[in-house]
Amino acid sequence: QSVARLDAAVGKDGYRHFMEKELHEHPSVIGQTLQRVVDPVTREVVLPELPFALADIPRAVITACGSAYYAGYVARYWLEAEARLPVDIDVASELRYRNPPLTEGGLALLISQSGETADTLAALRGLRASGQHVMSVLNVETSTMARESDVVLGMDAGPEISVASTKAFTAQLSVLAALTIAMGRARGVMTPARQQHLMAALLDLPSEAERIFQLGEQIRAMAHIVAKARDVLYLGRGSCFPIALEGALKLKEISYIHAEAYAAGEMKHGPISLIDDTVPIVAVAPSTILFDKTLSNLQEARARGGKILAFTDETGAERLREIAEAVIVLPHVDAFVAPILYTIPVQMLAYEVALLRGTDVDQPRNLAKSVTVE
Ligand code: G6P
Repeated sequence: QSVARLDAAVGKDGYRHFMEKELHEHPSVIGQTLQRVVDPVTREVVLPELPFALADIPRAVITACGSAYYAGYVARYWLEAEARLPVDIDVASELRYRNPPLTEGGLALLISQSGETADTLAALRGLRASGQHVMSVLNVETSTMARESDVVLGMDAGPEISVASTKAFTAQLSVLAALTIAMGRARGVMTPARQQHLMAALLDLPSEAERIFQLGEQIRAMAHIVAKARDVLYLGRGSCFPIALEGALKLKEISYIHAEAYAAGEMKHGPISLIDDTVPIVAVAPSTILFDKTLSNLQEARARGGKILAFTDETGAERLREIAEAVIVLPHVDAFVAPILYTIPVQMLAYEVALLRGTDVDQPRNLAKSVTVE
């Protein structure tokens, strides 16, 4: 459907673009999605009835395309660290042809907003044929992938109309965070205290996310720097590395500025040769245990003239202000949920840059909302 027809049917509620409206829906979508997967009284994760036991899953393979793949990439960090589950991950367009040796009874975790992406669907069918339990994290629960999955973890993101995914991404992450907790408990590797701690951090997210919109002016100021660039480098570490990837993807998609994301520690194996004073470096850098490592990478970039634009929290800001051109201070949250919170300003930055560049934000050139052909 054309955006004009959807505008008539769904409406932008006074926002300039569907993307702007959908960005503002992050807090409510995270909240509603969590309500669906967490019992309000016991604060236990509630999943739909599973035709297998989580405790029996020996390993998982995660696959998806685009932003959904980056949600899966965060989930790999979570499932490995918090549930001690071995995880393989790949984009669906590669995985479907890789023919990896898989033991029967593993978990295939598919992630898709639309549930119709051709490569993800083909990967689903291949994984099912190799004896995996198929679990899909989907926004459209009437989709083809929903019909072909053993279990569907839904989210309450509502229709997402902007071609570039926004709220569906944080909804996917919210579901995957809950799944991680359920998996950690089922495997007997997560203590009740750890479960409660992570759950409290998750349930605080909607109100922390709401505070991000107070940073609009600062994000717009940062956008003015990015909008002048020809190339932009995004850096992150750990579970925030996929958020750097998401930030770079979103910038490419809607502003047509070349952006690349690197795991911060890998910068000196290549992209450092590109850095000069024309290349802004967007750092996704909450003050986690990896912060000092990222900081030293950013110092190296600064020493080569790179302009550092940082998303961090108050603790990180104290150290970053010396070297950064701009520092945006987000609420301090537990490292577990930082990738969810940091997604919001990173996507907002891409939106503001696209506005400055005057591109067609909701329907960027050459892109489709749902890629149903190979
Ligand atoms: C397209 C969209 C992206 C989306 C990707 C995967 O490329 O433009 O925003 O992340 O498809 O779509 P899916 O519906 O499978 O999540």
